[in-house]
Amino acid sequence: MGKLFHMMSRTPVIFLLFSLSGAADALYKQWIPDTNYGNKTNWDKGSVPCGNDIVKFLAQRNISVYVKTVHSIQEMWLPVNGEFILPSGGGFTVNSGGEPGCGAGVTTQFKDAESLQWFDPELWKAAASLDDLEKGRFLFSVHEESVPCQNDDVVFRDGTTFRVDTTSNKLIVPVQSVTVLSKKFSRSSEFSQYLGSHSGQMQFHGSSAPSVGAATCEDASGCNCGNSVNHDRICSKVKCAPMSCKKPLYPTGHCCDVCGAIVTVQYTLGFNLESYRNRLQHLFLSLASYRSIHLGMSKVLKSQLFLGVIPRASVAVIQIVLLDGESGELAEALARDILNDVQDQGSNLGISGAEFQASSGAMVVGAVIGVIVLVAGILVLAVLYRRGIVKIPTMPTISVPSLSSLRQSKQEIGEFTDHGFENPIFDQPVVMPEVPGIYGSEAMNSIALKSSGVYFTNPAFDENETSVDFTV
Ligand SMILES: *[C@@H]1O[C@H](CO)[C@@H](O)[C@H](O)[C@H]1NC(C)=O
Ligand SMILES: *[C@@H]1O[C@H](CO)[C@@H](O)[C@H](O)[C@H]1NC(C)=O
Repeated sequence: MGKLFHMMSRTPVIFLLFSLSGAADALYKQWIPDTNYGNKTNWDKGSVPCGNDIVKFLAQRNISVYVKTVHSIQEMWLPVNGEFILPSGGGFTVNSGGEPGCGAGVTTQFKDAESLQWFDPELWKAAASLDDLEKGRFLFSVHEESVPCQNDDVVFRDGTTFRVDTTSNKLIVPVQSVTVLSKKFSRSSEFSQYLGSHSGQMQFHGSSAPSVGAATCEDASGCNCGNSVNHDRICSKVKCAPMSCKKPLYPTGHCCDVCGAIVTVQYTLGFNLESYRNRLQHLFLSLASYRSIHLGMSKVLKSQLFLGVIPRASVAVIQIVLLDGESGELAEALARDILNDVQDQGSNLGISGAEFQASSGAMVVGAVIGVIVLVAGILVLAVLYRRGIVKIPTMPTISVPSLSSLRQSKQEIGEFTDHGFENPIFDQPVVMPEVPGIYGSEAMNSIALKSSGVYFTNPAFDENETSVDFTV
């Protein structure tokens, strides 16, 4: 608390800047699957039915289906409860048989979308902006953060509908906003109303519900994703490939061991996650030699080693995961370049130190010059403390080393190419107070689903039948 107050009072201008910038480091997460009639992956025969085919929807499944164009059918079996969303130009014509080019006609079934889960990291794409989403400039993340974080904007592609199971380990699934058919919901009451609507019930199901308008991330150094409570749920969907490198690494928030490198960055006031991500993008990933590397960067809680040796409570750090899809050598080369950049520019970027681990077994600790002086001060304090001259007040994240344990554990550390220290004064994230009301309501491109959507609840349904014949 004392530390926090000290830093804030020193830098009122920067603090103000942060507060006004609104949501920091929120990403856009786009749901990949759809339940569109015209998407061949939704049909059990692998192709969109044509005019001689008999089309079946599972009777007992609630479903929302988007019909973009006119499709001809022979016969259609509808579910008990569902909706077709028909934009202008979408619809069905009934064919009396013999459509040329359609073959003899088969019975084809719409695939069951019931099991697709929100917490499946394979079903999302992430990008820094809507424009990036559209242009296919996606960001790599660890598994936990492939799924929408509490500060993210969730996008269901325009011109699609979907069905998603939002069951979570918590009662609600908090996100910043949800966009469905170009309509962006960022106010909680409005979105709850949508979830209660017929369309909402056909699209979202499960024992927890998404909730929009979660606290905005006001901290330019990034915010915690919040998905670790669902870690097991997320990882149950992931199949890990066997790794062949010498020393596979396990990034925080990931489900699998990886071959590559992990850079851990300690930040101070002034660090901006988004601009640092852009910096690495432009400085390194745009180079031909590094183009194949996946870089995932986020703020995570990690248990840290004080002075590189003594474990202590977890602190927030910036984790950069580098994967090259191969042995990890290329990732390690990039990690070294990033550390060199930190040595040169760290103090301008709000970085107090960095280290990396690579799956070759290499481990490098680097520090920004200037920090070392402070650490020397701490060491003196530690010695004075041991002699009983100084009593250290409550600083729960630092365990004071005994000199013998220091000496001993130093020998246990592998290959150092550089010795450095992290700065315990600056290792706590600066928690900016939330400023309510900054997240204004954006002008929305509103689409009234009711007017474009045609929905049916089949009143003639008999419990003993499994489907209803929709012959015209
Ligand atoms: C069809 O669905 C798949 C997966 O559900 C998706 O990846 C693909 O983009 C969709 N195709 C179109 C044309 O939207
Ligand atoms: C289908 O939706 C209705 C509401 O429209 C709901 O009462 C019912 O539980 C849902 N059934 C399933 C299997 O999700």
